[in-house]
Amino acid sequence: MHSFQYKNGELYAENVALKDIAKTYGTPVYVYSHETLLNHFMAYENAFKGFPHITCFAVKANSNLAILNLFGKHGGGADVVSGGELYRALKAGIPANKIVYAGVGKTEEEIRYALKNKILMFNVESGDELNEIDRVAGNMRVKAPIALRINPDIDAETHPYISTGLKKHKFGIPIENALVHYKLAHKFKNIETVGIHKHIGSQLTKISPFVDALKRILLLVDELQKNGIRIRNLDIGGGLGITYRDEVPPHPSQLAKSLLPLLKERDLTVVLEPGRSIVGNAGILLTKTLYLKEGQDKQFVIVDAGMNDLMRPSLYDAYHHIQPVVKNKRAIIAADIVGPICESGDFLAKGREITGVKKGELLAVMSAGAYGFSMSSNYNSRPKVAEVMVKGRKHALIRSRETLKDLLKGETVPELV
Ligand code: LLP
Repeated sequence: MHSFQYKNGELYAENVALKDIAKTYGTPVYVYSHETLLNHFMAYENAFKGFPHITCFAVKANSNLAILNLFGKHGGGADVVSGGELYRALKAGIPANKIVYAGVGKTEEEIRYALKNKILMFNVESGDELNEIDRVAGNMRVKAPIALRINPDIDAETHPYISTGLKKHKFGIPIENALVHYKLAHKFKNIETVGIHKHIGSQLTKISPFVDALKRILLLVDELQKNGIRIRNLDIGGGLGITYRDEVPPHPSQLAKSLLPLLKERDLTVVLEPGRSIVGNAGILLTKTLYLKEGQDKQFVIVDAGMNDLMRPSLYDAYHHIQPVVKNKRAIIAADIVGPICESGDFLAKGREITGVKKGELLAVMSAGAYGFSMSSNYNSRPKVAEVMVKGRKHALIRSRETLKDLLKGETVPELV
């Protein structure tokens, strides 16, 4: 149950009318429900309660400082993939010893930054990266805690762009090469092998790939043990899906129920890296209809949010439910809901059935809390939109709308021009 509901025909975020949010902060604007954010985060905490665990929220899904701070306050850690995300997580007050760092292309500078801050572990994606971490750690005279990201060759049965656990993907170390890499890691003077990591994809709607992948990983953990390599942290990645349209993804408690029996009697801390399933349905993108246009053979609803604000429909052909902020009884139309960007690929929905919309009316693009703002850009020199958090009857800006001046930040016209 999420917190965006109609009351007397008007859409609310918790107890605040979205109409009022638009009036106060303008549009387009991302609106997040504090209640849903916390409920979804706590769903993981409660599901894995009783087994040592850290819920490391995947910062890439939504990197707003206030949102990271909220999870941190409730015991959350962070899964980061860049120096920038690490910076955000630390600034949000997330303790470094609850931060894991993945990604196939960590730079020397980023490795140094993470070592200086003493993160929980690097999730290492190649032998080459191991070498580099050992070298950088040696220069700093510290030991780098690492896990190897293992690619278990499991089909996550999701969109090809967000599937990561198959042999053909660039991520992780193929499971058959895992032992060799662990032995290598074990030999490095400046590396301490503390964990194992896997993440097979995103928007998973079935439990079985999680179970199959974990079983494979546990066989490897046993083999490592036999070779004198002890794993303390078992990072199972993120990936639980959400309902965008009619998907029925498992709840974190079902995930725990299927996975924890496999882990009993094992002296491990489970690291979880959920992103989408925590923030996805906790946020919406509120947009205003600018124009209506009758095309040759279809109607266009032109709104003030574009692909630069929410990239998922253009990039993945992703479905986001779109609903009017004030319900009406007009006839249903089929329309392309498009943004102002100069690209044919700039759409939020295609051939969508929606009750007739009028100029100036507000629409809510649902399930936009994950990979929404965090993937937004300034394309077409559009200032990034504002973000607002609602809690009960209260609301607050958690990121102000960029100004025109912000667009030029860092740009100069040097003499040679
Ligand atoms: N851990 C790792 C190592 C990841 O690569 C990801 C996501 C996560 C955790 C979090 O996965 P989640 O729980 O959110 O499924 N931009 C795409 C999604 C890309 C996911 C990338 N990795 C989208 O908008 O659907």
